[in-house]
Amino acid sequence: MQLFITVLACVLAAANAESSVCCSYGDSRVVMAQWDAVFTASNGGKVTTGYALFSRLFELAPGAKDLFSRVNVGDMRSPQFSAQMVRVMTGLDLALNALADQPLLESLTGHMAAQHAARPGVTVDGFRMMEQSIMEIMPQLIDNFNPDAWSNCLHGVIDGISNGLS
Ligand code: HEM
Repeated sequence: MQLFITVLACVLAAANAESSVCCSYGDSRVVMAQWDAVFTASNGGKVTTGYALFSRLFELAPGAKDLFSRVNVGDMRSPQFSAQMVRVMTGLDLALNALADQPLLESLTGHMAAQHAARPGVTVDGFRMMEQSIMEIMPQLIDNFNPDAWSNCLHGVIDGISNGLS
């Protein structure tokens, strides 16, 4: 049944002129397995990976840094910003692990979209920069990184979390 739902989502995505990407069931299996190796790494995987992702995000979009003043972005190694990185990594983990379950994925990303919509200044462009950061950093952390599977699946996740932003 889940396979059917995923394939249906792909067909619907293909029918949408704005979206030519499709996260197939096979793509989702690859991404979930490759992500798992990063997320569960014993050497502080979440914080280390979050630091790499946010460092690249702030290179691509320096203005985005101001959005995180409440969580002590001035010291990216601080407990406050480390906690922010863990929240983001955990949100990403929930979404990526739901790739093969479209209704669950939509519920998770919809909830995160509402959390971001409540934060003035957070934009779709910022999320596109985060997508780029993830696509640049993950190959450095994952053996046999599969760029097609990742770009097919990550795009929909980022779309979902940034849904409703301007
Ligand atoms: C992979 C993409 C991302 C995920 C999974 C994610 C997830 C999260 C989560 C789970 C929270 C905590 C929400 C809460 O407790 O209310 C959060 C907070 C936040 N996110 Fe994201 N986020 C992502 C990308 C971004 C991007 C690209 C931006 C801006 C450019 C952004 C801006 C913020 C801000 C400003 C907060 C609030 C920080 C504070 O507490 O002051 N997020 N995010």
